[in-house]
Amino acid sequence: MKVIGVTNRNFDKDYVFDLLRGAARFTGSDLLSALAETVAEFPQAPLDNAFNHKQVASKQWARDMLAIHTSANFDHIWVMGGWIGILPAMLFDDARFNIKAVSSFDIDPSVAPVAERLNRELSGEAKFSAKTADMYALEYTGPDAPDLVINTSCEHIEDLPRWLSLLPKGCRVLLQSNNYTSEPTHVNCVESVDELAQQAHLGEMSYAGAFKLPRYTRFMLIGRV
Ligand SMILES: C[S@@+](CC[C@H](N)C(=O)[O-])C[C@H]1O[C@@H](n2cnc3c(N)ncnc32)[C@H](O)[C@@H]1O
Repeated sequence: MKVIGVTNRNFDKDYVFDLLRGAARFTGSDLLSALAETVAEFPQAPLDNAFNHKQVASKQWARDMLAIHTSANFDHIWVMGGWIGILPAMLFDDARFNIKAVSSFDIDPSVAPVAERLNRELSGEAKFSAKTADMYALEYTGPDAPDLVINTSCEHIEDLPRWLSLLPKGCRVLLQSNNYTSEPTHVNCVESVDELAQQAHLGEMSYAGAFKLPRYTRFMLIGRV
């Protein structure tokens, strides 16, 4: 299995597994238990990066604002640049939401097996799938069309307006970007939520906000194209 994003990772897999499994037992968290199993199966996957405190805080923020500004009932959520599936895992773990299915899409073929492992027990009855695809090449209409499209990787794509133009009018979206310009894979950072709103040019806006983290600020919009 190709190393995802991070190379030369030296750590004791058993140490991390035991610690996470203990934390899962102590807290009764199915999500921590799934993380422990995923670390054991994919020790080279960047779970530490994807589940670091800033990533978790940003996704808790997304979850909270979604719960407040939408009905929290979704038939089919599509997650763009979904990486190793942390956000779907956090949504399935949250009793405020009633979600029938989540599909995660990422251009990197090495991440789908990790995302599927992480979400396997959390989603139950095969409600989660991870696919390898370029978000610019997807068909966003049809019988399987999403009723919510989440893209918390907007800083990773060069042309946000072009990608949004592929979505059918009225489609509900949650978008996150940030001003973390020193990360080389961040090809499209924004300096403010207003700049993100200008790029997105949504037809309807339910929420727009900024969330200050130790080294950067994350920006989010919830609305409809
Ligand atoms: C580092 S990750 C996620 C960062 C984001 N802040 C988050 O936690 O949600 C960004 C992901 O976007 C994916 N990606 C970049 N361009 C893409 C594209 N055109 N279509 C699908 N996935 C893409 C990358 O492969 C990567 O896994």
